[in-house]
Amino acid sequence: MKKILIILLTALCAIACNAEPKSREAEKAAADHGKVLVVYFSRTGEQYSVGNIQEGNTAIVAKMIAQATGGDLFEIKLKNDTYPTTYRALTEVAQQEKRANARPEVADKVTNFDEYGTVFIGCPNWWGDLPMVVYSFMEQYNWAGKQVAPFVTHEGSGLSSIPASIKKTTKADVLSGFSLYGHEAQNERENAQLKVNAWLKKLGF
Ligand SMILES: Cc1cc2nc3c(=O)[nH]c(=O)nc-3n(C[C@H](O)[C@H](O)[C@H](O)COP(=O)(O)O)c2cc1C
Repeated sequence: MKKILIILLTALCAIACNAEPKSREAEKAAADHGKVLVVYFSRTGEQYSVGNIQEGNTAIVAKMIAQATGGDLFEIKLKNDTYPTTYRALTEVAQQEKRANARPEVADKVTNFDEYGTVFIGCPNWWGDLPMVVYSFMEQYNWAGKQVAPFVTHEGSGLSSIPASIKKTTKADVLSGFSLYGHEAQNERENAQLKVNAWLKKLGF
């Protein structure tokens, strides 16, 4: 009887000792990162190498991040969305906006922006840069004290100078960024999910 009791107590202790550091880790991660917001801009329609898509490549990644972190999702939408839905025409409009350093108007605002400790910002790589509407979005808010985690989908250029541009605009603490081929997000979701998870783990989520 005594022996059984000792075995039971040892087993209980092993469970408790294992559980404690884990919950402390989770608490620390929450304390470090605060409430999470996942902001993204993404297009449907005809996109490079994936044809006509119903859900944007960056949107797919944004939803994976929100799901894994328990964060709130916010899609940056244009107030007047007149962008073409064919790829080549869209590249031309985007290039004109970049040359003009345009600031297309954003449709909605994040109402409780101050509550968030970490903001993920995701977008497609457009001409080695953020789409100009993402600058419009960033310039509307005070980023003091926030951590910003950039993520980008692309078809060869990776992150380019997007994290540096986010840093310059927000002056926030910019964490190491993540890039993924758009066609991988669209057509190889399990792979994409594994890569997203690995990046989040590196950031301490
Ligand atoms: C206007 C425009 C410009 C682009 N410029 C680049 C680029 O410079 N480098 C690159 O790797 N991909 C470029 N792409 C490809 C997109 O980054 C890629 O298809 C992305 O996954 C699209 O994401 P979305 O579906 O979320 O909009 C461009 C696409 C568009 C529409």
